[in-house]
Amino acid sequence: MFPIRLTDRLDDGLTRVVPIGSSGPLSHVDGALGDEIAALGDRPDPLIVLRRPLSRPAKVLLADVRPGWRAAGAAIVRQAGDEPLQILVDEDVRDLAEGLWLGGYRYRDAREEPRTAPIDLVTTRPEVYARSLAQAQIAARATWLARDLTNTPSNLKIPDWFAEEISGASARRPGVEVRVHAGPGIERFGGLRAVGGGSKWRPCMVEMTWRPPGATTHVVLVGKGITFDSGGLSVKTREGMKRMKNDMAGAAAVAAATLAAADLGLRVRITALMPLAENAMSGSAFRPGDVITQYDGSTTETTNSDAEGRLVLADALGYAVEGLDPDVIVDLATLTGSQKVALGPEISALFTENDELAGALRAAGERAGEKMWRMPLPAEYRDLLRSDVADRHSSPTGGPGAVVAALFLRDFLGPYANRWAHVDMAAPAWSDTEEPATRRGATGWGTRTLLRYLSALDGGQ
Ligand code: BES
Ligand code: MN
Ligand code: ZN
Repeated sequence: MFPIRLTDRLDDGLTRVVPIGSSGPLSHVDGALGDEIAALGDRPDPLIVLRRPLSRPAKVLLADVRPGWRAAGAAIVRQAGDEPLQILVDEDVRDLAEGLWLGGYRYRDAREEPRTAPIDLVTTRPEVYARSLAQAQIAARATWLARDLTNTPSNLKIPDWFAEEISGASARRPGVEVRVHAGPGIERFGGLRAVGGGSKWRPCMVEMTWRPPGATTHVVLVGKGITFDSGGLSVKTREGMKRMKNDMAGAAAVAAATLAAADLGLRVRITALMPLAENAMSGSAFRPGDVITQYDGSTTETTNSDAEGRLVLADALGYAVEGLDPDVIVDLATLTGSQKVALGPEISALFTENDELAGALRAAGERAGEKMWRMPLPAEYRDLLRSDVADRHSSPTGGPGAVVAALFLRDFLGPYANRWAHVDMAAPAWSDTEEPATRRGATGWGTRTLLRYLSALDGGQ
């Protein structure tokens, strides 16, 4: 990550970004520059970039701050190339710095050179904003990690590779521990074994824990970790399969958020569960019509092998319910195409019966710049899941896909149903277009929402 620094010194040789229309920063501006800004006339709250030495008229790049400082920061860094910058600010720098780093993201194996030039945030009170900058850096670094993991091609990103990446990252953080359950260790994870059974690469479940002293709340995070989703024997279409390396974006987000929570030293106990498997097609793949036994002992008739995510999540949820006694369970999953139909490319679907939890997650998402819309879990639709040969079947035809998938998961929560939220992030996990704060490709969606949610549990923002 390129450096962002706080300073109270202006360097006249550098390109300078001056926010106008908000109070404060103009006090930094000397006479000549002030005239240049005045000459731009009446613009409500854009950021303007003036190149030094000043030419007349000043060369100007604009970034609108009305959608927020995060978007403005992202827009600026995208226009700046690898040029060093100074940005005059006199308010909280957290969103701005987040935007600069998010907009400046490069996939670690990208052909494009990464930005290296530093950005100075020029303020009269650098010490006041040091903590905000540090928080922004941790959140942005976590998002970069989630994006990198998700952008990694599936021929490299096999379950054991993901487990090793996560173990490596954890080893650098005291207090974070990782257990990899595999082979006989996932005997009871019938859904995970079925889904992973068609692949050359063995499935596993990564369990990451952060147990700080003094924590009173235990949050279990569960992330869908399908390293590639071909659909299995119920094979996807060519078009439908194209982006399916992103089907582990939920696992990437929960891993990244947990590591970042440790970096922030949050006094919240976290257990992150990441069931990892490749949904492949082969002679050992599970079949439509197979009946599998899930972690909790109940059975599922697998009507469509492309409804694989719920099978692996069900086992992880069962594991959490049986042994972890969580106060809250949140799962993140690229679960259904139906989510995109319902809410479009940028808004995730939030399912929970707990109003307080819904409010807290929505608020966290709002602060993180990630949107969710609450969806129902109608009990009367549970009938859709009825099977003649098992406790349920995995994918009824008809019925609202994202809702039915959520109801399927709800079956595994038992007495914890009211402490659970499910987030279907199928569409927002990936962007087909270049947006200010999200480049084309993996977005890292959910990482910062989780982090803000966890921070709030520890009394922060
Ligand atoms: N991984 C897909 C969902 C998905 C679709 C994620 C598009 C990202 C973009 C999931 O495993 C899937 O295939 N879901 C099926 C479920 C159906 C078979 C019940 C779907 O939504 O079509
Ligand atoms: Mn699928
Ligand atoms: Zn999938």
